Amino acid sequence: MRISATDWVKGGWDIEQSIEFARRAKERGIDLIDVSSGALVPDAKVPVGKGFQVPFAKRIRAEAKIKTAAVGMITDVAQADEIVMEGDADLVMIGRELLRQPYFALRAQAEIDAKPSWPVHTVTRCSLAGSEADHRLRAALRAGLPIASGSRVSSPVPRSDPAGFPR
Ligand SMILES: Cc1cc2nc3c(=O)[nH]c(=O)nc-3n(C[C@H](O)[C@H](O)[C@H](O)COP(=O)(O)O)c2cc1C
Repeated sequence: MRISATDWVKGGWDIEQSIEFARRAKERGIDLIDVSSGALVPDAKVPVGKGFQVPFAKRIRAEAKIKTAAVGMITDVAQADEIVMEGDADLVMIGRELLRQPYFALRAQAEIDAKPSWPVHTVTRCSLAGSEADHRLRAALRAGLPIASGSRVSSPVPRSDPAGFPR
């Protein structure tokens, strides 16, 4: 079940209510709370930043004793790994970074030296240009995967967001 853990406004829905809500949801058979926030009250000041909703997932997990998923500006492998390993959440859900980097999971596996869990031929076939492609190429190189001839790692260029979403 996805919830908005806080409205980010005084007098609005807040994390204490979310914890109580999660307790009751668990009693009624809900297995996991996917902890998002905001976008329900106009003019709310949301402190958007890296992992800004993770503390809510952490509190709900600890205090309502229910599994949680952390979402929101989780954009790199180490960050995602830390959230789970530190016990802040049971899993991480990623949205926009997967639009920016469709091979995020494959790259993550390469970064932690895990075996790729699905075929990698698309990595080697895609036309490699720009920094996102460089990530994929570097990951493929680290993972010892075959690389299409002529592929090169270029110098860093600013990352663009293909879907035009704010970062
Ligand atoms: C354009 C856009 C539309 C979204 N629409 C919804 C929505 O309708 N319902 C919802 O629960 N979350 C919605 N979200 C939030 C996403 O599900 C996700 O939690 C959010 O993008 C934060 O994760 P990310 O930083 O990994 O993308 C939306 C996000 C974006 C950028």
